[in-house]
Amino acid sequence: MDYYIDKVKALQVLDSRGFPTVATEVSLKSGVSAVAMVPSGASTGEYEAVELRDNAQDYAGKGVKKAVKNVNTLIAPAIMGKSAFDQEKIDEIMIKLDGTDNKGNLGANAILSVSLAVAKAAAKQLKLPLYRYLGNAFSNRLPVPMMNILNGGAHASNNIDIQEFMVMPVGAKNFSEGLRQCSEIYKSLKDILTNLGKSTAVGDEGGFAPDLESDEQAIEIIMKAIKKAGYSDKNTKIALDAAASEWYKDGVYHLPKRNVDMTTEDLIEYFEKLCAMYPIFSIEDPLSENDWNGFVKITDTLGEKVQIVGDDLFVTNEKRLAAGIRMGAGNAVLVKVNQIGTLTESFRTIENAHRAGYKTIISHRSGETEDTTIADIAVAVNSGQIKTGAPCRAERTAKYNRLLFIENELKENAKFFI
Ligand code: PGA
Ligand code: ZN
Repeated sequence: MDYYIDKVKALQVLDSRGFPTVATEVSLKSGVSAVAMVPSGASTGEYEAVELRDNAQDYAGKGVKKAVKNVNTLIAPAIMGKSAFDQEKIDEIMIKLDGTDNKGNLGANAILSVSLAVAKAAAKQLKLPLYRYLGNAFSNRLPVPMMNILNGGAHASNNIDIQEFMVMPVGAKNFSEGLRQCSEIYKSLKDILTNLGKSTAVGDEGGFAPDLESDEQAIEIIMKAIKKAGYSDKNTKIALDAAASEWYKDGVYHLPKRNVDMTTEDLIEYFEKLCAMYPIFSIEDPLSENDWNGFVKITDTLGEKVQIVGDDLFVTNEKRLAAGIRMGAGNAVLVKVNQIGTLTESFRTIENAHRAGYKTIISHRSGETEDTTIADIAVAVNSGQIKTGAPCRAERTAKYNRLLFIENELKENAKFFI
């Protein structure tokens, strides 16, 4: 049959940090083919699926030739001749072939590259856009960007502890207007930093990484940038990613750049204070991936007004999300397809989140490629939010630009709300 998988070929390519990653091309009997590339994190969660690295001489150990070989010699024969429309079955075959809970044998990078490429090839075979193939007739909602404009933590060599400061154009009338708003704020932030004599060098996701006195000063400057660009706290909200797992060790939070120790309670108080001072819509990983009780507490305290997002906490994992839902930890989940390693498992997590009333934010990684699959996923599942970096690096604008194309294609059917 035309839609049977005929060829699976992986190779090693580069991500936006110049590290190797896996790219796989899946070809169908019809001659249709599609390529997918896998992203890679820096502040990775302890419970993420395994990203297989060679640990050899080349690329300082970061080569992925083993993962590439696993695709070409193990996965390819196992899925050859299968229908590209049988996404769940193909993902299941790879999960079984790997045989571990964390995809440690074949590598989540190997498995994901195939999982995504199969879906893309299937969509092409049907001549459907990927968001329509993965979604349905009502997949018409463009996501509100959670745009990273200022970086600290593990993503920058400056003295700010919070990893990401983002703006959200909640009052914009559509996606392109929202994107314009964020880009204008990004530009005015650059001007303000330049005038202050601060560095406008950027971090891995394209946000600026200046040396500032404190996290509060970072937010103050962003508020100024919002105003300077002609917007206000009515139409623009702030989102933070604390990435607090990076701070946690032996029961205390050590904020390395400020060099202070904090308890769970101290941190919750600190975030309460920030939320009282600034228009904060969302806080991601305010506490560590192991601090379930802390997550429940902060959700009880702030969750009515603020989106509390589990990234390292949930790692896109159905089981960890189920535990969180049972306990009342967080009210939103960050979805990163490479944290779990297949499209099927990512979609299951998204579906369970929506059923439990949790919001979903489809997300890039700090190491990215020109692959735009996450833009289509965000529309397919009507997630309403996407996190894909600053508008100054091509691997990030690739996703925004893909969304502009989708918006243009959807015309008056395009919706834009969280
Ligand atoms: P990562 O960071 O891709 O480096 O893990 C992104 C995040 O923490 O959201
Ligand atoms: Zn995060």
